[in-house]
Amino acid sequence: MIFFLLVLLRLFLSCWVFPGLAYLKLKRSGFTGPTPRFPLGNISEMMKKTEIISKDSSQSLDVSNDIHSTVFPYFARWQQSHGKVFIYWLGTEPFLYIAEPEFLKRMSAGIMGKSWGKPTVFKHDRKPMFGNGLVMVEGEDWVRHRHVITPAFSPSNLKAMASLMVESTSSMLDNWTALINSGRPEIDVESEITATAGEIIAKTSFGIGYENGRKVFEKLRAMQVSLFKSNRYVGVPFSEFMKPKQTLEARKLGKEIDDLLLSIITARRESQSWYPSRDLLGLLLEGKNVDGRTGKSFTTRELVDECKTFFFGGHETTALALTWTLLLLAKNPEWQKELREEIKQVMGDKEVDFHMLAGLKKMGWVMNEVLRLYSPSPNVQRQAREDIHVDGLVIPKGTNMWIDVVSMHHDQALWGDDVFEFRPERFKDDPIYGGWFHQCSISDASSSPSNVGGWSAGDGKASLPQPVQQQKRVV
Ligand code: HEM
Repeated sequence: MIFFLLVLLRLFLSCWVFPGLAYLKLKRSGFTGPTPRFPLGNISEMMKKTEIISKDSSQSLDVSNDIHSTVFPYFARWQQSHGKVFIYWLGTEPFLYIAEPEFLKRMSAGIMGKSWGKPTVFKHDRKPMFGNGLVMVEGEDWVRHRHVITPAFSPSNLKAMASLMVESTSSMLDNWTALINSGRPEIDVESEITATAGEIIAKTSFGIGYENGRKVFEKLRAMQVSLFKSNRYVGVPFSEFMKPKQTLEARKLGKEIDDLLLSIITARRESQSWYPSRDLLGLLLEGKNVDGRTGKSFTTRELVDECKTFFFGGHETTALALTWTLLLLAKNPEWQKELREEIKQVMGDKEVDFHMLAGLKKMGWVMNEVLRLYSPSPNVQRQAREDIHVDGLVIPKGTNMWIDVVSMHHDQALWGDDVFEFRPERFKDDPIYGGWFHQCSISDASSSPSNVGGWSAGDGKASLPQPVQQQKRVV
């Protein structure tokens, strides 16, 4: 009986009293926002709009680059009443919404990495996907993981990886040519590129051959779908019981993926064969990248989590960026011409060579413009690990932060009147910021710079020249 009462008390405190106190504290600090309702917070309003979007988006293929109010209508609406920094609630979890680079800059100035963490509510939710891999660890553990992994991305290792990228891209393009020649000119570019990106990550990161790579890849995609269906009530107490079937399915797939990766790692350990020797797993297994400070290498469990993290963080982001690049090039044939000429000048008719990639300046502008308009990482989340003071306001310890990258990338006040236009040349004189008015990068808010994959020097630049070079016109 006492046990039952204690459980009830704990529930009452964590679902009602603590969120209520956090609400008062944030209000006293001067933050406003849409009124939350227990137990969903502001989720019901967010869900209503999501249904309308899915109906609209199926009706038209002629995309406008002005996407923020379509993709996140609730944020666009709340911005109108509460500005670009406000509080909204996912269930009983408060989130400080930020779409104001100046605020972000002031908030993160002088703050140590340990003041930030990744929201606990997401850690739990995304465990089957990332475990305790680099995207989720924080503090000392994050430093250790970075120390172990970073040397694997040295220029010479990236060079070895680039040839594997070229190999997979060539085989995808051969397949496209065969399809076109067989009279079936319709190609599902997104899924083709996603599968190729998955194959590239499987080979370059873990030396996993096509068959095993495919198995892991298919299970990961299935898990992603299950998680998407089950996690629409993030932050709501007991939300895992709202979609029990999908929650269980995601956990089951997570376990199967773990087992598969475990068997691959064990086989690699036992066979002592590191081919291809420069892949990430081979380097980590060789033990050369032991963290200098603590002398600790990765445990098998940590290796499994990093495999999943790289698989998941690496393939979809890159595939989305490349798919949008091809679509935007199809809509802007003058840029296809520019890029084709640049590739001809820099590489002639030779195979893509890692050292030549730096010469593809215009391609860099195009990719930056694509990442601006269609960021594969539409938001970044953090959680305050201690009280953070900014402009006389206090962001209390425990507050989650939701940084809206899409909003900032589509903000007319920051980019000017041509904000919705595809204009890669804006990166000509300012290759990093593209001339936007507040030079602040999302890594200002991040204890973890996101340069592990080295995308622009890696997958994208190594994989894009071939489709542009080989096709007369991207349509
Ligand atoms: C267009 C491509 C990509 C984009 C837009 C992108 C974006 C990002 C962003 C925004 C973060 C920070 C997340 C956070 O701190 O909350 C991040 C982290 C990360 N990304 Fe990527 N990424 C891309 C490609 C890749 C690739 C190809 C890989 C792997 C091969 C990769 C692996 C990672 C890892 C491991 C982290 C965690 C880094 C850390 O916390 O130290 N990413 N990425």
